[in-house]
Amino acid sequence: MMASSNEIMARLMALKPSHVQPRFRNAAELMEFHSAEAMKNSQLVTDRNRQARMEKIIGRSGIQPLHRECSFTNYAVETPEQQAALDAAKQYLQAFGQTYGGFIFSGNTGTGKNHLATAIARNLMKRGKSVMIVTVGELFEKFRRTYAKDSPVKEADLMRDVCKLDLLVLDEIGVQKGSEHEINLLTQIIDRRQLQLKPTGMLTNKTYSELVELLGERIMDRQSNGGVWVSFPWQSRRALKGGRI
Ligand SMILES: Nc1ncnc2c1ncn2[C@@H]1O[C@H](COP(=O)(O)OP(=O)(O)O)[C@@H](O)[C@H]1O
Ligand SMILES: [Mg+2]
Repeated sequence: MMASSNEIMARLMALKPSHVQPRFRNAAELMEFHSAEAMKNSQLVTDRNRQARMEKIIGRSGIQPLHRECSFTNYAVETPEQQAALDAAKQYLQAFGQTYGGFIFSGNTGTGKNHLATAIARNLMKRGKSVMIVTVGELFEKFRRTYAKDSPVKEADLMRDVCKLDLLVLDEIGVQKGSEHEINLLTQIIDRRQLQLKPTGMLTNKTYSELVELLGERIMDRQSNGGVWVSFPWQSRRALKGGRI
């Protein structure tokens, strides 16, 4: 018959030099050690899986290399307006999930709209949320590709996926004057997301009333419900720094 664990432990204990403290004094402690080790290992596997998932998400997130390092901490504040924009972005992140209202960052190019939107997005991704930042032009292009006869992804699939994201950030709204069909698509996406209580972020150089004209009052009403409007009225950083950032 095989020796019991307790017997083995007893034998090992008898062999040990007196100055060595035993790690386990009985079988129960040995078992406890084994299960703690197993837990550590499975935690490691879980962490690795999360990491892999994260990389997949980041790969799909649409965050451009220019913005990959953007965070709240490296957002430079030189004016009270910039402080207000930073605070609003942080506040939006903090309250995320409590409202389907979205953020609207409005201002000239190079003023840091993508920077702060990316900071929000990266923090949400860290929490395992699915996020995509996409220019309206790219989004239209993605849809156009689904219309090809041999496209494995159909328009309805893309629409469903885009509407499922926890946060969709639409960049450069109003830069391109889309066709009627494209504007319809855009409003349909925002509308469907709002009905599913999913917020949409908007980056634009348009005013509120121009957005109402483009997207309709109902959508902009819902967008503002619990959402936040932030103006970026200062000049591009590139212009301020004489062409260099
Ligand atoms: N306040 C700021 N602090 C640090 N970097 C900034 C700030 N504003 C803009 N930038 C940087 O300037 C570049 C252009 O900003 P971006 O966010 O793309 O502008 P926008 O989206 O408004 O056109 C980016 O590399 C961004 O990280
Ligand atoms: Mg931008």
